[in-house]
Amino acid sequence: MTNRSLAKDPQDLTVLVTGGAGFIGSHTVVELLERGFNVVIFDDLSNSSPVAVDRVRQIVGIAADDPRLTFVEGSILDRAALEQVFTTFPIDGIIHFAGFKAVGESVEKPLEYYWNNIGGTLVLLDVARQYGVKNIVFSSSATVYGEPDEMPLTENAPKHDATNPYGQTKSMLEQILTDMWVGDNEWNVVLLRYFNPIGAHESGLIGEDPKGIPNNLLPYVAQVAVGKLPQVRVFGDDYPTPDGTGVRDYIHVVDLARGHVAALDWMGGKLGTDVALDRCSHAGTPMTDGTRSGVGVFNLGTGRGSSVLDVVHAFEKASGQTIPYVIEPRRAGDIAENYAACDKARAELGWQAEYDLDRMCTDSWRWQSTNPNGYAS
Ligand code: WQD
Repeated sequence: MTNRSLAKDPQDLTVLVTGGAGFIGSHTVVELLERGFNVVIFDDLSNSSPVAVDRVRQIVGIAADDPRLTFVEGSILDRAALEQVFTTFPIDGIIHFAGFKAVGESVEKPLEYYWNNIGGTLVLLDVARQYGVKNIVFSSSATVYGEPDEMPLTENAPKHDATNPYGQTKSMLEQILTDMWVGDNEWNVVLLRYFNPIGAHESGLIGEDPKGIPNNLLPYVAQVAVGKLPQVRVFGDDYPTPDGTGVRDYIHVVDLARGHVAALDWMGGKLGTDVALDRCSHAGTPMTDGTRSGVGVFNLGTGRGSSVLDVVHAFEKASGQTIPYVIEPRRAGDIAENYAACDKARAELGWQAEYDLDRMCTDSWRWQSTNPNGYAS
């Protein structure tokens, strides 16, 4: 059984985006459509809203019945629903975001996380293979590095045990996808390790809309700025960092989305002129049609670390609001700092992040202030 070729023009390719109504998924769908790809969003709406799909259409200027974007509601655990997608649409490749992603919740509900994230991906891979689709970009995470030995983190840094079931599912799925290629070299896999995605599309129409009280820093800060929460809780100011608060590599969600398009180009053998096929570290080999098989692993970050207080101050500047905060004890499972070495993505994908922390906060504020209740309003 052969694999579908990605060595075609975007308008001749259809990409299945699981979790495509979510925060990173919706921003990626915008970039795919703007590049001319046809997209099928498959999302169970467990952590997203159908309004986001309408907003994506509004951003790219297509009608609800435009065949370039189809939304199918469903769970990756539902084999029949997935088979229906693969029989209805000429799927050429998959960008796989769908999965539960709350670190703290995963500690309380490990079975649900392993069932949905691991089990759901196994069903997806089995159905995709059944229909000859073996091109997959996987939404992985810097969390697979665990407590890093040294900074910045390169893709060769050792993977340490994840400190929570969520991170464990990412690490295990990386291994599963790698083993799929080892067992069948027609698989074409890219693992994208995100650092800390924040921000929103410049239109303010789509953005991060977490359920309940946000676990992550940026949406929490944004809700303090818009008056929904009273103050920011800074989890520890005694870390070995410049101001004592945790340091992370925050990356604009649009930069992150563009990294996925670059990965599809790379998988289709459409490299920038300055990148020769033979210099790629891709484990596989160039195929006859110019595409490749193998497993590519890339950090998607900015290479710059920002502290919690850097984020608070940048958001005050972006929003014009004073953001009160209180220092609290460290949060269990947190590490002092992590930020990416991004040389490999720049050299091989021809991709690098463009936007700085001020732009991330400006765009996030525009989304939050015009949608104080997220998509609910
Ligand atoms: C960032 C910094 C906190 C909240 C997690 C997942 C990762 C990815 C991104 C899904 C840390 C501090 C936070 C708050 C705070 N998730 N903080 N007050 O933990 O780096 O990464 O989210 O893909 O996989 O591990 O992100 O935003 O929760 O924390 O002081 O209310 O902000 O201690 O230093 P994290 P975060």
